[in-house]
Amino acid sequence: MATTKIKKEIEKLRAEINLHNYRYYALDNPIISDAEYDKLLRSLEKLENEHPELITPDSPTQRVGSMPLSEFGTLTHSVPMLSLENAFGDTELRDFDKRAKKLLGTDDDLEYVAEPKIDGLAVEVVYIDGTLSVGSTRGDGVTGEDITHNLKTIKALPLKLIPHDSKTKIPAKLEVRGEVFIPLNAFDKLNKERKKNGEQPFANARNAAAGSLRQLDPRITAARPLSIFCYGVGEITGTQPGTQADRLAFLKSLGLKVNPEIKKVKGIDEAIKFFNDVVDKRGELDYEVDGVVFKINDLVSQKELGEKSRTPRWAIAGKFKAKQEVTTVLDIIIGVGRTGALTPVAVLTPVIVGGVTIEHATLHNEGEVTRKDVRIGDRVIVQRAGDVIPEVHSVITDTRTGKEKKFSMPKRCPECKAHVIKDGANHYCTGGLTCPAQAIRSLSHFASKRAMDIDGMGEKNVEQLYKEKIISDCSDIYSLQESDVHELEGWGEISAKKLISSITASKSPTLKRLIFSLGIRGVGESTALVLAEELGSIDNISKATIDELTDIKDIGPETAINITEFFKEEHNISVLKKLKGFGVTFMEEEVRKGPLTGKSFLFTGTLSALKRTEAKDMVESLGGKIAGSVTKTLEYLVVGDNPGSKLDKANKLKITVLSEKEFSELIEKLKGKQS
Ligand code: IVH
Repeated sequence: MATTKIKKEIEKLRAEINLHNYRYYALDNPIISDAEYDKLLRSLEKLENEHPELITPDSPTQRVGSMPLSEFGTLTHSVPMLSLENAFGDTELRDFDKRAKKLLGTDDDLEYVAEPKIDGLAVEVVYIDGTLSVGSTRGDGVTGEDITHNLKTIKALPLKLIPHDSKTKIPAKLEVRGEVFIPLNAFDKLNKERKKNGEQPFANARNAAAGSLRQLDPRITAARPLSIFCYGVGEITGTQPGTQADRLAFLKSLGLKVNPEIKKVKGIDEAIKFFNDVVDKRGELDYEVDGVVFKINDLVSQKELGEKSRTPRWAIAGKFKAKQEVTTVLDIIIGVGRTGALTPVAVLTPVIVGGVTIEHATLHNEGEVTRKDVRIGDRVIVQRAGDVIPEVHSVITDTRTGKEKKFSMPKRCPECKAHVIKDGANHYCTGGLTCPAQAIRSLSHFASKRAMDIDGMGEKNVEQLYKEKIISDCSDIYSLQESDVHELEGWGEISAKKLISSITASKSPTLKRLIFSLGIRGVGESTALVLAEELGSIDNISKATIDELTDIKDIGPETAINITEFFKEEHNISVLKKLKGFGVTFMEEEVRKGPLTGKSFLFTGTLSALKRTEAKDMVESLGGKIAGSVTKTLEYLVVGDNPGSKLDKANKLKITVLSEKEFSELIEKLKGKQS
């Protein structure tokens, strides 16, 4: 009856609207006027209003869900969303290319896909059977905020994927990654309107895009002119394109918007030429670009190069030169970092650099102040590049009046008055954790998102709890009660409750997070990951010698010394004990049952056929453990090429030594037994 006809009419309208969306947003080549498009949309709305039972979530009328949210949920990315390493200038780009060639073992020119680096927000959008299901922010790379309701308002993002050629098949699951931004023309209009309405204009297009994506009410987001360029994928089912270029073509053929400026280049010279072309063209583009991303085109090579903890070895962001402005140095103050490093910081007459107000700029260290000869009262050029900390670029000496004051590093820490020592280029406060600045910074590092991830323990709150003498080291956090905080200024019962539940939730971090949170000098996230992977427990790390640590790839002698020194310190050992006592579990490897249960392995030297991680996985999948060092209890030492001191020690202790081949044979034999 009539409904079938109406259903058909609705489907026809939807298909037509989707096609025009694709032509307008993905191809930038509309074939009807805006008025004609609006007419189609209104006809669809009318029919759907008359037959609400026929509304589907992927209908083009359903971009704004009705209810504002009360808070954002979180979503976990099935494949981590990585960040990019930066290259400033041609030399760093050439270094990247050389490194990649060396690791791939080739002298041939590498093929790259060169993509303008959009200064917006990275997001992930998941399509299930072609329908937009959920979407999230990048967050910490592992979990992001669920902003599905806001992403659905972006007209350049299809609610339903439509294959635009006969070869393209829609994957059952497709996770698309891209950058959300506000085009510059639309941004100007938006700010003019805001001024007219007496609202505060946005500082720049990126802030406006970020603010828009973080709205709980999707109607506000829908009124903001957001757009997106898609540049990657997370999980994707079915047959995979073999190159980044094919991947982008695939996304485009599904109706997703891909930047038309993207180009395939061969060799680093062509890549640098493209970079310079984008620099020249930058002013003509209708979006903010802060560099060019170069990705190795071949996905097999990408896999071979792999990634560090947060950045791939197969891509690099060539960054544009920083934006600069002139201002005055009002004072030079000293910041004390969590490791006690003293950093001179210039206090400036506020100045807007690239849309952001700068009031402070780092001067890095004493050598830098001397080299640049920065004096209090000087006119200086300050610069900021993307998300990098603003810095003083140079001094304008011509206009000096003679009243400018020279700066020298203090002899005592401005925070705790302890002696200051010089180590290399830097000055350090010797107060250790008795220095409130160091203690507060260490504590807030411990609680920070990428470390133990305790909500409500930002630097301000940590400072308050520390000054009120409620916490003095990180283990004290775990003895906190609601009653300790709820009566403090700025706190209430709800915030106290939330804090305690967040503390409780943080009690089982991954080993990597725990190591990182300890704040050992030189142990950033990637070193923490390497330590966790290689040594498997805090206990093993604390017992490792400098030799054993430097045997590990990526750990240099200085970091090895820092690690061993850290574990020699009574105070640190007692804090670790207390943490354990409060139930902070270190996620030591779960004991898996198998033919190798109770047996420990250690690898030394370079394996030829296997990757270390693969070999370790094999041991662990059969129930075995990876040891941290050669001890009497070690079952097998597996040796590759150029074994280190571990082999001598194993021979002395009469431990079974296996070649890589013998190891593989043993594993095969045990696997056979297990199945
Ligand atoms: S690829 C492993 N491609 O830059 C790949 N990122 O500094 C990681 N960005 O978080 C990202 N345009 O927000 C990639 N064409 C592009 C990009 C791009 C902008 C942003 C993105 C990312 C950040 C990394």
